[in-house]
Amino acid sequence: MKFLSASFLILVLVLLFGSKSPVLAQSVQHLAVPQLGGLPGAPVMTGAAKLTNGLQLTWDGPSGYYQVFQKSNGLKAAWIALGRATNLSRTATITSLYSNAFFRVSGPAPKYAGSKVCISCHLGVCRYETNTPHASAFSSAKFMASGGQTNASCLPCHTVGYGLATGFVSATATPLLGGVQCENCHGPAASHAAASDDPTVRPRVEIAATVCGGCHHASNTSYTNPPTFEQWIGSDHAAVTPDALRAMAASTTNLNTCGVCHSGSARLALINAQNPATTVAHDYNLPITCAVCHDPHSTNGGPVQLRGPVSSTNVFHLAGTDVASVTAFTNKYALSTNINLCAQCHNDRAAAWTDTASAPHRSAQYNFLLGSVGELSDGSAAFNPGSHAGLPESADYSVSGTFYLTNQCAACHFSALTSGGAHSHTLQPAYAVCAKCHDPAPALAYLKPELTNRVSTLIFYLNRWAAIKAPASLRTNGVVAWEYTTPGGLSWQTNALGYVTSWAPGSAVNFTGPNAAGQSLLSANYPNVLRARFNLYLVLNEGSFGVHNPSFALSLLSAAQTWMIQELNK
Ligand code: HEC
Ligand code: HEC
Ligand code: HEC
Ligand code: HEC
Ligand code: HEC
Ligand code: HEC
Ligand code: HEC
Ligand code: HEC
Ligand code: HEC
Repeated sequence: MKFLSASFLILVLVLLFGSKSPVLAQSVQHLAVPQLGGLPGAPVMTGAAKLTNGLQLTWDGPSGYYQVFQKSNGLKAAWIALGRATNLSRTATITSLYSNAFFRVSGPAPKYAGSKVCISCHLGVCRYETNTPHASAFSSAKFMASGGQTNASCLPCHTVGYGLATGFVSATATPLLGGVQCENCHGPAASHAAASDDPTVRPRVEIAATVCGGCHHASNTSYTNPPTFEQWIGSDHAAVTPDALRAMAASTTNLNTCGVCHSGSARLALINAQNPATTVAHDYNLPITCAVCHDPHSTNGGPVQLRGPVSSTNVFHLAGTDVASVTAFTNKYALSTNINLCAQCHNDRAAAWTDTASAPHRSAQYNFLLGSVGELSDGSAAFNPGSHAGLPESADYSVSGTFYLTNQCAACHFSALTSGGAHSHTLQPAYAVCAKCHDPAPALAYLKPELTNRVSTLIFYLNRWAAIKAPASLRTNGVVAWEYTTPGGLSWQTNALGYVTSWAPGSAVNFTGPNAAGQSLLSANYPNVLRARFNLYLVLNEGSFGVHNPSFALSLLSAAQTWMIQELNK
């Protein structure tokens, strides 16, 4: 048979006990576990999950036709082909089962071509990709000097298809297969190059982090490598927060509105000018993977190939209108090539004190760093960067000529200081960075209680105002007069004197904020209350306890406090 000419087999013994793995119906199949060298060149079994009516087998491997076989308990029993050799999806549901069965899958043999073959048709990609550090991973001076070229333990991650038929053998036998190339990430593609219009052998475009994780993972004794994949998978970027998942499940509009920052697949679709609603409707649960921040083909952003710079000083927001359509996003993205990569998601979404529906989102870090969001006593904050914004004015705080915060967010959250010289992907701020300027090291312990103190005072004033000064119509049972329509989570229940008797953050107790009519009443007559609640939520939701811009955070809370004292004295 044509497609099975050199069949590659995997064997699995499935005991029909054990737990059912969470396979989402209709969800797109991604490489489930990292495989040495990137995208597997030969089939590997990745899952066997018990279903109510049978078994779901899942495997990975190059694109092409697969055939599943089953053998009953007896080792001498014959292999029985299940269905036909036309499985393209790398998963099969098996309903007629033996209690102890063996399974086998045969599929396309790996056929590697090397990236030179791709150039004639994919010039745009090849022109840049072949100049990245990946392309010289075999020929670099360091790799050669360390004897890597002839050390079998190094070759799986520094060459194409090492150990597989048609893959790398040696520098002399397969001179075109050294280095990390297209086929490490897309799978063997010679069949595709020979028949580019055959959709069944079109190489895969896998954006899951497992592809990179097949090489970018922790060291073993024969080589040293930073544990990038392990750090990433333990970070908040490795999962889509459940509330955003629920929102995206509820409406395709939210695939743009929330997915642009929360879903890796939705974001990459938008970046590639595709509509998430048609391309990733069942695939939005893919988080912020490596390829969301790193462009594997580009040489922009230096050797680290980031999709944006690590620092910028332009004020930036991603407003709702910027994601309302693919075109709107494309236009905005084209204008944001000079904006800090992190800021493209960690921005205030154009939140303003006049908003009434809900509190500012938890994403305002970039604007906070620049001091460009919030209300100061003399008007809306335009640009008030502090000493942590990495601007040249602060260069006198450099140590031996090195200014430690020029990389802004990355300087603290992707520091190489605590990760053995490689950039950490845990997202945890490296307190070793603080010690470069602060002696004694970090002042966080000072700022946090100070901030908490001011926050409590402010909440007390707001509650007191709600109890004694708010319009009577907003003092009905259960309504917290100063809150957003959807309360931001700080709604305290107060007694008649405005003293806090219980509070709700994260608890099941639900308080409501004023409805639209109530908000209009507030906007018309009590703008200072709106400003105060905005500053309050901004400082708290921003999440750094003021560290991103210490004196600015305190100014916002002071201004709010002053306004509330004025209101209470009216
Ligand atoms: C003869 C021309 C030709 C050659 C040679 C060729 N490709 Fe392609 N490739 C295509 C065409 C045409 C498509 C389909 C584009 C489409 O439908 O959007 C494609 C699609 C792809 C895709 C999938 C894109 C997608 O969006 O799904 C990948 C990945 C790819 N090629 C990689 C390679 C690699 C790697 C090589 C070299 C080993 C290669 N191609 C060689 C013409 C070629
Ligand atoms: C599990 C896959 C894997 C194996 C096996 C592996 N490497 Fe690497 N190697 C990598 C990755 C990934 C990087 C890039 C790491 C980074 O920059 O974070 C790398 C980088 C390097 C570099 C470049 C370092 C620099 O600073 O420029 C050298 C040299 C190197 N490896 C040598 C070797 C040698 C020698 C062996 C065998 C003893 C080996 N590697 C085995 C994955 C691997
Ligand atoms: C380090 C991994 C990696 C390498 C090496 C790599 N790619 Fe890709 N490629 C990806 C990822 C991830 C995507 C999807 C993300 C995106 O669209 O930017 C992609 C997307 C593509 C696409 C479809 C979208 C597009 O940008 O046109 C094509 C075609 C493609 N790659 C071809 C190639 C070719 C040809 C090479 C070798 C010259 C290559 N790739 C090397 C990871 C890689
Ligand atoms: C086949 C193994 C392999 C795969 C798959 C792979 N890489 Fe790499 N990567 C390497 C090696 C080896 C190097 C080191 C090259 C050198 O410096 O000589 C490297 C270097 C890099 C660098 C440059 C590091 C530096 O210090 O300059 C980045 C960034 C990177 N890889 C990102 C990725 C991303 C993102 C993916 C997935 C889309 C990926 N890699 C997939 C092996 C791999
Ligand atoms: C401009 C980018 C952006 C957009 C658009 C966006 N978010 Fe977020 N969101 C973030 C960032 C960044 C964080 C994380 C901040 C942190 O961890 O401190 C966050 C945090 C959250 C959290 C809190 C998560 C937690 O673990 O505490 C929820 C819930 C959330 N977002 C839901 C949504 C929903 C629902 C939408 C769409 C209506 C949405 N977001 C739109 C960037 C965005
Ligand atoms: C594609 C959008 C996106 C980009 C780009 C992005 N982030 Fe995030 N980040 C998020 C979202 C969304 C969350 C919240 C995830 C959650 O709570 O589930 C988050 C969470 C975080 C957290 C919170 C971790 C914690 O423990 O709560 C930190 C810190 C962070 N990001 C830093 C960065 C830095 C630094 C950069 C730039 C190098 C960056 N992010 C780039 C979207 C992004
Ligand atoms: C001076 C170092 C520094 C810089 C620069 C910096 N951060 Fe932070 N960041 C911190 C510290 C310290 C915290 C508080 C962490 C804690 O609570 O333990 C923090 C908290 C956060 C959080 C909240 C984490 C959580 O647990 O919810 C996010 C998100 C975040 N930073 C993202 C960013 C982004 C995005 C930038 C750039 C715009 C940035 N940070 C710049 C040090 C820094
Ligand atoms: C939120 C964005 C983001 C994500 C997601 C991300 N990275 Fe990075 N990566 C960065 C930043 C920022 C740097 C450091 C850039 C700097 O400061 O020069 C970096 C650095 C690197 C480096 C260079 C290491 C060094 O020490 O120089 C490699 C290799 C790398 N990343 C690979 C990966 C891999 C593999 C994944 C997925 C497992 C990944 N990255 C996910 C933003 C990201
Ligand atoms: C490049 C030098 C530099 C680094 C690195 C740095 N800071 Fe600062 N920090 C300053 C300067 C200068 C000030 C005082 C001026 C101001 O408030 O803006 C300051 C002020 C502060 C304050 C306000 C209270 C005070 O003592 O003045 C806190 C809290 C703080 N830093 C915490 C941190 C933390 C936490 C880190 C590490 C995550 C850090 N800083 C890293 C330079 C730095």
